[in-house]
Amino acid sequence: MLHEMPTLPYDMEALAPAMSKETLEYHYGKHLQTYINNLNRLIVDTPFEGMSLEEIVRQAEGGIFNNAAQTWNHTFFFQGLAPDQPPVSERLAEVLGRDFGSVEAFKEKFTQAAVGLFGSGWVWLVADEKGFLSVDSEQNAGNPMRKGLKPLLTIDVWEHAYYIDYRNRRAGFVEAFWKLVDWGKVDENLFGR
Ligand SMILES: [Fe+2]
Repeated sequence: MLHEMPTLPYDMEALAPAMSKETLEYHYGKHLQTYINNLNRLIVDTPFEGMSLEEIVRQAEGGIFNNAAQTWNHTFFFQGLAPDQPPVSERLAEVLGRDFGSVEAFKEKFTQAAVGLFGSGWVWLVADEKGFLSVDSEQNAGNPMRKGLKPLLTIDVWEHAYYIDYRNRRAGFVEAFWKLVDWGKVDENLFGR
């Protein structure tokens, strides 16, 4: 099956100034499109051709894994942002408090992981099979579903995610990210609709 560009739940200029239209034009419009094009080209005449994106992410290696995971990760990242940020729900705040101490302590831990990740990668808030939350750092295209963990929230810390708006200042990008997190999606990812 052919993999297609996901739709964005907001306009390209809606996340500015935290994330500019130009960043989205490159990051969503060009980088993500390239991963999807590569994936569609690489899976032709392989067992992955008939699989869902998630199955490919779970099973593939090498170039097919890299492009499939980058497709999945970017889709999850972009769809987890919102211009009008809903508040952290009470039940989500309770679980974050249980596993990190408080919502603020979680944000601090996630921020440290995002700023501190060496090179390119992704930092995730994940739940294990018992529902306990933790912060997971992944290099390159890494995806925590490979370890049996459920993704709840992610930040892309590849340079292409922030270089237009923040140049080399990854910390500035991470700070701005907190103004864009769709807490309603995080709640939904953990508890379901
Ligand atoms: Fe990216």
